[in-house]
Amino acid sequence: MEVQTSAGRYQEQDVQALAVAVFKDEKADEGILKELDEAAGGVVKSVIESEELKGKEGEIVYVHLASGGGLRAQRLLLVGVGERDDYNPAQISQLAGTVARFLRGKNVKTIGLVARAEKDAEKMAAAAAEGATMGLFEPDKYRTIDKEERVIEKFIIIAEGADEETLKRSAERGRIIGESVNFTRDLANEPGAYMTPTNMAERAREIAEEFGLNVDVLDEARMEQEGMGALLSVSHGSEEDAKLIILKYTPRDANAQDDGDLLAFVGKGITFDSGGISLKPGENMELMKYDMTGGATVLGAMRAIAQLKPSIPVLGVVPASENLPSGKATKPGDVVTAMSGKTIEIINTDAEGRLVLSDAICYAKKLGAKRIIDMATLTGAVSIALGDVNTAILGTDQELIDEVIAAGREVGEKFWQLPLDKEYTKQIKSDIADIKNVGGRKAGTITAAAFLKEFADGVSWAHLDIAGTAWGDDAKPYRAKGPTGVAVRTVIQIVERAARAKSSDQEAEVPVSAAS
Ligand code: BES
Ligand code: ZN
Ligand code: ZN
Repeated sequence: MEVQTSAGRYQEQDVQALAVAVFKDEKADEGILKELDEAAGGVVKSVIESEELKGKEGEIVYVHLASGGGLRAQRLLLVGVGERDDYNPAQISQLAGTVARFLRGKNVKTIGLVARAEKDAEKMAAAAAEGATMGLFEPDKYRTIDKEERVIEKFIIIAEGADEETLKRSAERGRIIGESVNFTRDLANEPGAYMTPTNMAERAREIAEEFGLNVDVLDEARMEQEGMGALLSVSHGSEEDAKLIILKYTPRDANAQDDGDLLAFVGKGITFDSGGISLKPGENMELMKYDMTGGATVLGAMRAIAQLKPSIPVLGVVPASENLPSGKATKPGDVVTAMSGKTIEIINTDAEGRLVLSDAICYAKKLGAKRIIDMATLTGAVSIALGDVNTAILGTDQELIDEVIAAGREVGEKFWQLPLDKEYTKQIKSDIADIKNVGGRKAGTITAAAFLKEFADGVSWAHLDIAGTAWGDDAKPYRAKGPTGVAVRTVIQIVERAARAKSSDQEAEVPVSAAS
């Protein structure tokens, strides 16, 4: 799909279908709807007056128009977007996804979108391009029959009178972000056989090469040298070697010696989680291919960051491993020593995510990270607590947590903070080692985070448990079912916000005499 923008009139766009946002209780006898109604031969008024469309979010009316009217497009899609006053970029993203998916289903090849929000055409264009790109993702890569083969050739974002250059630049940003979310979804969707730690490292190398990132991949021998006993204990049972993938983005104008407040993203990359010796039940085990989604989120975000070129450096760290049972596998009761020197009693080999993350967090610190956000499909318990609506967030730095929540709100991703009082740490005290990898039945998401906290001392740290939100069991009008790519957009937004804050700080430091 080619995403285009136009500051021209919607009536004159050379597209098969025109999609227009309609606000709640909007009347057809004023403003743009009146104009549209006249151009479309009275159909808008009749749809609204018959109350077929009241403008509620998600409502859709699709009509074919008689030729010879005032629109070049021959089909019109009216989509309710709810209250005008609450209308925001996150909704525009979903609107564009809904429009793209719906019209692809009608075999439409060229679309014009009038998302309204003329006052902030810049954010609108980015959100629309992102949403349309994300909306078209399908997880049917391995289908040979009934595969979605229809493609949208052209998607024009229309904002009459807006600045052409700004529109174009914004849509390009949106496209990059949408494609990076789809990249993450694609990795998450891959069967374990095709997405081994080695394959994942290969994908990381490819994006590093294509978009300009530094890449390093530690093999098991190097992990041994670093003393990463926790990470290595997870891959013991597998024929596939674990990999620790490192990506680094450095802005061109950065002082090479000074990483400042280096921000790092660490993502759980368990390419298949069978549970190991503490084997999971068979039902739904196939879904455990997506246990590397945290890692895929880091790779997707780094892929976008490399193209968006913010002014701050960013580190991405992905511990990738399979978790399988075998004669060589780690057993419940074993004790391993993490890179930090802490000893861990393995109570349950299915609580492996926290093991690989603990060494990855230590390594991120070794590479100079000062602020760390980790993301992981870490606990089944998070789905019980928050379902598939909110991602759990916990951490040691309230400012960082608030930043994540605020960035999420801007892109339409919800985070809900869970407490991390020190009392929870008691649950992971071991009788024979420093800590154990399971904290009992109570507060599973929190005790998993309490475990990670043991390794995040000395830095500002937040943890995202995406186990409930990374996979959509049902399709939505704006996305297919399957991998959601949750948190990719939030993470990108965090980086862009931090970069903007840094540049405005620097501007403020310029002496008044030199500023003019
Ligand atoms: N990968 C799972 C968590 C998970 C479960 C992700 C369902 C997505 C959907 C994780 O490694 C795990 O198995 N956690 C255990 C921890 C327990 C043994 C303390 C869990 O949640 O049951
Ligand atoms: Zn597990
Ligand atoms: Zn797992």
